Amino acid sequence: MKFFIDTANLAQIKEAHEMGVLDGVTTNPSLMAKEGITGQENVINHYKAICEITDGDVSAEVISTTFDEMVAEGEALAKLHEQIVVKVPMIKDGVKAIKYFTSKGIRTNCTLVFSAGQALLAAKAGATYVSPFVGRLDDVSTDGMQLIEDIRLIYDNYGYETQILAASVRHAMHIIQCAKIGADVITAPLSAIASLLKHPLTDNGLAQFLADHAKAAGK
Ligand code: E4P
Repeated sequence: MKFFIDTANLAQIKEAHEMGVLDGVTTNPSLMAKEGITGQENVINHYKAICEITDGDVSAEVISTTFDEMVAEGEALAKLHEQIVVKVPMIKDGVKAIKYFTSKGIRTNCTLVFSAGQALLAAKAGATYVSPFVGRLDDVSTDGMQLIEDIRLIYDNYGYETQILAASVRHAMHIIQCAKIGADVITAPLSAIASLLKHPLTDNGLAQFLADHAKAAGK
C-alpha cells in the first residue's frame, strides 16, 4: 500500500520523506490556503517545491468547474512537473475532463468521491486515482470503510486499473482498515502516519532493554 501525505506544509512533507515511507503528496485548495499560499505564481512555485522534496506523485487540484477551464488549468498544472497528477472534482464536467486528460496521457485523481457509483464513473473515465473521503463519510454517520470495500469489489470485478486512494483518513485505525481491505493508497496527515509507530509495550520494552544493558555494564 502506498502512503501519501495530505498536506501542503513543506516541513511536514520533508519529515515524512525523511522517515523513508513517503510515496507521494495530496493537496487541495483548503490545504494550500491553510499554508497561506495564494496567487497563481506562488501556487505554481509551491507545487514545484513539493516536487523537489518527494519523487512520488503530487496531486494538484483544479479550481475551475467547467470543462474548458478545467482542461486549460489541468494542462498547465501537468506541464509544471512530471510528478504532477491533476486532481479533478467528481462533477459532470470533471468526468468529461478526466476522460480528456486520460486520452492525452495526463494522470488524474478524481476527488470528492462519496459513493460507489461515483467511483465507477471515475474508473470508466480512466482516472489514475479515485479519492473516496472516508473521514467525511464517518462525520455524517456513514461507514466510510464500507465504501472502500464496495469500490474494491467493483474494480476487481471488472479489472479497472484506477487506484483506490483512500482520502480524508484521520487516524491509525483508518490506515489499518484500508490496508486490510486492499486500498491501493492512503493519504493522511503526518500525525496519523506517525501514530502507526506508537505502542506502549514498545516504549516500555525499550526502556527495560536499555536499563538492563546499563546495569550489566555497571553504569
Ligand atoms: C483528499 O485528497 C483531501 O485532501 C483530504 O483527504 C480531505 O481530508 P479532510 O476531510 O480531513 O479535510
